[in-house]
Amino acid sequence: MKLFAAKDYEAMSLKAANIVASQITLNPKTVLGLATGSSPVGLYKELIKSCQSGQLDFSKVTSFNLDEYLGLPPENEQSYIRFMKDNLFDHININPDKINIPNGLAKDPHGECAEYDKRIVKCGGIDLQVLGIGHNGHVGFNEPASYFMLDTHVVDLTPSTIQANKRFFESEDEVPKKALTMGIRAIVQAKKIVLVCSGEDKAQILYDALYGKVTPEIPASILQIHPDCYVVADEGALSLIRKNNKI
Ligand code: F6R
Repeated sequence: MKLFAAKDYEAMSLKAANIVASQITLNPKTVLGLATGSSPVGLYKELIKSCQSGQLDFSKVTSFNLDEYLGLPPENEQSYIRFMKDNLFDHININPDKINIPNGLAKDPHGECAEYDKRIVKCGGIDLQVLGIGHNGHVGFNEPASYFMLDTHVVDLTPSTIQANKRFFESEDEVPKKALTMGIRAIVQAKKIVLVCSGEDKAQILYDALYGKVTPEIPASILQIHPDCYVVADEGALSLIRKNNKI
């Protein structure tokens, strides 16, 4: 694991975007794993700038998003497909046929999960996975559990995730209680991982995930065993790591 310090959210986003951009430059047919949430929005902004200035070409890139809420139609403002369109896809030259995101309206959600894993395998796996981390250590919506959930699966969101995500909805009642999420296998098998983490409120979980024991109780801790994982964090998120003299 390589840890990169950035002074603030903007610097973090730029550093992480540079890693993603290098990957796409070196392999225009990159299979990208993508996350939603606040953490990668700045990184996506930088990628948009590079694409719009002609420096970066997404036309041959394939993308797989980590997750989607179960039961939210794509036109719902809080659906993750809508988020991705607003924050990235509508502003770059990615081929819509190469965009993959779990279908939150699938009649058979479990079948949809199995199909999603097959699609990832068929594309040769993920070359570079972008991740954020939840306050409870989740990656994608792999919530803390007594074992690592390997496959794409339907998950009951934990109260802490529902609490964290209610900021995007009118009320807590409107936050979906279930989601479809890529499992730990596809994430860990990604050839390269870039985790972005910002803010002091993430300092404890980032420290625990990177320097505590590897445990499904903190799903992100599995990243410790990944051979090519980049963590790009700002000073707020790094505060506890610095305090413990780890960097
Ligand atoms: C969403 C996802 C989640 C988020 C995490 C952090 O696709 O994968 O694991 O990365 O909940 O969310 P933010 O970035 O909003 O703090």
